[in-house]
Amino acid sequence: MDPDEALTTWSSIAGWYDQLIVGGSGPHELAIRTTLDLLPDPMGADVLDIACGQGLATRALAGAAAATGSPSAIVGIDLTVELLDRARAYEADEPLGITYRTDDAQSLTTVADGSVDTVTCQLGLMDIPDLDATVAAAHRVLRPGGAFVFVIGHPAFLAPNASTMPDNRGRSGRFVSEYFDERFWRSPNPHGVRRVGNHHRMLSTYLNTLVAAGFTVERTAEPRATATLADQQPVYRNVPIFFAARARRA
Ligand SMILES: C[S@@+](CC[C@H](N)C(=O)[O-])C[C@H]1O[C@@H](n2cnc3c(N)ncnc32)[C@H](O)[C@@H]1O
Repeated sequence: MDPDEALTTWSSIAGWYDQLIVGGSGPHELAIRTTLDLLPDPMGADVLDIACGQGLATRALAGAAAATGSPSAIVGIDLTVELLDRARAYEADEPLGITYRTDDAQSLTTVADGSVDTVTCQLGLMDIPDLDATVAAAHRVLRPGGAFVFVIGHPAFLAPNASTMPDNRGRSGRFVSEYFDERFWRSPNPHGVRRVGNHHRMLSTYLNTLVAAGFTVERTAEPRATATLADQQPVYRNVPIFFAARARRA
């Protein structure tokens, strides 16, 4: 592990992250919308949300399942106890039938082979060191025909040390100079999520990893900003903040 990774952790910012979401975060609002848009129809009886954090997407999945009238068993897994505690507290306050477990997305040891219809991962893959292992674990736990839906920070615009600046007509854009540099990096912004660190990978790495694991990419998305996000971070009116995809296990 890079010694730098020992600084800020998901445990140390769990309370801050929960409050960020509760306070009305434009990126998270868009992430949920994107995850739900990419869900397969039907999403199936068994749904697993990996790197679930405080359960933001997991609760949205439970809501979507209930709305279809064919409720699914929804499980959220994460490694950060403090975030799982918050997820369980939301579940206790407003029961949606979600089960939360501690597990590592890179191995999914608590999940049996071929036991899940849909795996989701909202804003988690950039946080997890071993992408090959994570995608292979998602593939292993899916039933044949099952779907893997993920949303990531768009690697072409959130690359290491990318900055927001105006073009020669005054339109804001993202300046990227380290796109090919696949590595763990930590944003110097003391108020941002990425101060916890991110594993930057090229878009082609994500897509090639899916294909190598046996997935077929079925749909992709580069969603436009919601009004909230455009208001909070206007640059994302002009370039996508996220890349997302739905892939199928054969
Ligand atoms: C940006 S948060 C996303 C949380 C949630 N999905 C959301 O949309 O708010 C990234 C999450 O990845 C989790 N994480 C990092 N490494 C992990 C691993 N190896 N296995 C499971 N979760 C992991 C962190 O604990 C954190 O909850």
